[in-house]
Amino acid sequence: MKNRNTQHVTQSTNIKWHPHHVTKEGRAILKRQRPCILWFTGLSGSGKSTIANAVEEMLFGLGKHTYLLDGDNIRHGLNSDLGFDEAARVENIRRIGEVAKLFVDSGLIVLTAFISPFRKDREQVRRMVEEGEFIEIFVDTPLEICEQRDPKGLYKKARAGEIGNFTGIDSPYEAPEKPEIDLKTEGMTPLEAAQIVVTYLQSKGYLNAE
Ligand code: ADX
Repeated sequence: MKNRNTQHVTQSTNIKWHPHHVTKEGRAILKRQRPCILWFTGLSGSGKSTIANAVEEMLFGLGKHTYLLDGDNIRHGLNSDLGFDEAARVENIRRIGEVAKLFVDSGLIVLTAFISPFRKDREQVRRMVEEGEFIEIFVDTPLEICEQRDPKGLYKKARAGEIGNFTGIDSPYEAPEKPEIDLKTEGMTPLEAAQIVVTYLQSKGYLNAE
């Protein structure tokens, strides 16, 4: 395996962490919710963005405070300097993890929709936050279906050799081994899938805070 470190990661010196007086716990109580990351992972075209959007809308309707970080959108801004080779994907997920962690600290329920193909990188984000704050949601749609849907026409281009390193074609996808939620999307509507996520959050007490 190639070196997974990227040139983007530098070691800062002479810096000090400043504790804040307004805490995550205080913000959570104010917002009446337990902040967390809903980490959607799955192939391109699996339905991550659609389901994450539907979950966010439902949570918004319940008066919850959320923010959605979405692969294609983040790649237009914060991560516009990153491509799709392994080192770039590692760095993509590391940055998203750091941003999501800040949003959790701000008391939000953060939704992220990235292919995030490597198990190790997802586990690294899990370790960045506290126990119970990382909820891995596998948007479990088989490659054949994603390829049939091909909403952006990218599988067609990848098969024609016009895009290299395409996940599922010539770049690997490592499925989660023990996701908190496994959404087998075949025969399910995006709204049904979203409802499973919201029900999970309700049953585990994320939508209240004492
Ligand atoms: S990740 O692998 O680094 O997590 P991310 O979710 O940010 O990927 O971006 C994936 C989106 O970028 C896809 O939905 C697709 O629209 C687009 N894309 C462009 N090139 C590729 C590629 N080589 N592999 C996968 N997705 C690609």
